Amino acid sequence: MADIIETIHQDHANLAKLLDAAERQLTLFDAGERPDYEIIQGIVEYGLNYPDLYHHPMEDAILRRLRARDPAAAKAVGDLESEHKALKAATQRFAAAVEDVLQETEVSRDSFVAMARDFIARYRAHMGKEEEVFLPAAARALSASDLAEVEAEMGRREDPLFDADTSERFEALRKKLMEWSRESP
Ligand SMILES: [Fe+2]
Repeated sequence: MADIIETIHQDHANLAKLLDAAERQLTLFDAGERPDYEIIQGIVEYGLNYPDLYHHPMEDAILRRLRARDPAAAKAVGDLESEHKALKAATQRFAAAVEDVLQETEVSRDSFVAMARDFIARYRAHMGKEEEVFLPAAARALSASDLAEVEAEMGRREDPLFDADTSERFEALRKKLMEWSRESP
């Protein structure tokens, strides 16, 4: 079984695909075309669930272990827990803004597009920092048994979109992601 650092890398790759998909839809919307709202809702629903239920708590748990093993490296990573809280709040604001657009509430197209682009950029920057600083430090400082213990502490992981045995609610999004990855490998 892959270790949890591998799982976190894979989550980042998955989330990066979703951010790309969100950006494509946003570009359509910005051009005055009709985006695929089912896809957007799938992305938002996933974004409100898996990262906060599993991915961020797992990273927080890895960071706690890193603080014990290599405090200096952990210090260089900084306050991930606060970033995760802020990201959760930003995801909720983004979800609410998408809901307003879907309800055709009076929303300024430009301000929606600006906030959505900002949200996507922020998520990417956060993951980029984790990939560049946090995960390499954790891989260096933590032993296999550290990682196994963190994993045991966290309990069972279920990814409703990217796991083999996934729920039906993400069927449309999953098909689209597969189509897109065939078009642009
Ligand atoms: Fe992350």
